[in-house]
Amino acid sequence: MHNGKPTILIVDDEPFNLDLLEQELADDYEVVRAQDGAEALRQADACDPDLILLDVRMPPGPSGLDVVRRLRRTERHVTTPVIMLTAQSGLGEKVEGLDAGADDYITKPFVSEDLQARIRSALRIGHLQKELELERNELKETLGELRAAETKLIHSEKMAALGKLVAGVAHELNNPIGFIYANMDHFRRYVGEVKAVCDSASLTPEAAARATRAFDTLGRLVESCANGADRIKRIVLGLRTFSRLDEAELKTVDLREGIESTLALLEHHMKDRVEAHRDYGDLPPVECFAGQLNQVFMNLLSNAVDAIEGKGDIWITTRQEGEAVRVSVRDSGKGIAPEHLPRIFDPFFTTKDVGKGTGLGLSISYGIVEKHGGRIEVASEVGKGSTFAVVLPAKAQVKNT
Ligand SMILES: Nc1ncnc2c1ncn2[C@@H]1O[C@H](COP(=O)(O)OP(=O)(O)OP(=O)(O)O)[C@@H](O)[C@H]1O
Ligand SMILES: [Mg+2]
Repeated sequence: MHNGKPTILIVDDEPFNLDLLEQELADDYEVVRAQDGAEALRQADACDPDLILLDVRMPPGPSGLDVVRRLRRTERHVTTPVIMLTAQSGLGEKVEGLDAGADDYITKPFVSEDLQARIRSALRIGHLQKELELERNELKETLGELRAAETKLIHSEKMAALGKLVAGVAHELNNPIGFIYANMDHFRRYVGEVKAVCDSASLTPEAAARATRAFDTLGRLVESCANGADRIKRIVLGLRTFSRLDEAELKTVDLREGIESTLALLEHHMKDRVEAHRDYGDLPPVECFAGQLNQVFMNLLSNAVDAIEGKGDIWITTRQEGEAVRVSVRDSGKGIAPEHLPRIFDPFFTTKDVGKGTGLGLSISYGIVEKHGGRIEVASEVGKGSTFAVVLPAKAQVKNT
């Protein structure tokens, strides 16, 4: 549309016919001319007409029928109204034209009122079609937004439930492990005392040997219990750092602490199978929702562990890059097939067995990182491994959604 006037592309190989049409239309419409099929296609792309008036026979180039067929194959002109200009006698032409995708025809020589009325009608239909298309696109967009919102909701519910569970377990375990840990010292001391009493008692040589063996074993048991208690204490601490439910607001934290607490949680998964190599460069404190970013690290690290069949390695690197920080997790796992790569951030996309993966890990992580004004980069080679890098602005640019 030009200055409020609809644009009509007129196509005819006879300049005289074009003049005639132009004269007829110039008052009410913006008229663009084309003298053969190839030019018609070019002009259609250039001026995006509201209507095309198309002569059927235009030797020697592509005929009007060819032009319609080609226009209908493009997304842009699939609904642009096309009226064919046919010879009086050409019934076959008319039928062929309509079959090829034209909307109407006018026989030459045209009658002015007839031409004008058909143009108005075609423009009306074209306009309605455009409106429909706009509405359809709007609906599509809304559907996309709804789907995204649904994913977010599932995510936030899952996270809230997980966070509560983790925080609850951590809280319940905290007291008992506290006193086991504290009692270990007394335990050790009293074993020592009983041993001293035994040592000073006059025992038969066999009894003394038995007591020594028993105290040796007891000593080892005490140490093993102390180790276990120490580990539980660290895991509980990890759970608490991980859930960080108390920290629902922005905090300035050292991301390496979050990574470490996540690694502590994954320790039993990795054990002697997967070795973690840390390369922590200088990292400025980052303003963020720490619990959520821990969730991201958890997703990336557990994906890396899952990708490793048998023994393997994970390399965790932290770097400062100008105003941003980069945390990358590289694994020596099986890699991602190129056809899967574009889909890994899709909600519910998983290659894991039913019940093993929800396929939400990366889509959730993506959302969290995006909310922090950052991005996730991926590089992967099948059979060699993958690298996921989280790049975040050190100063939070958290979006309010
Ligand atoms: N480090 C990686 N190496 C190889 N494939 C990966 C890696 N990270 C992700 N993928 C692929 O991307 C898919 C989607 O990952 P995502 O974390 O979103 O879901 P998931 O791990 O399958 O399920 P969940 O996270 O709920 O356990 C995985 O199933 C896997 O195919
Ligand atoms: Mg995952």
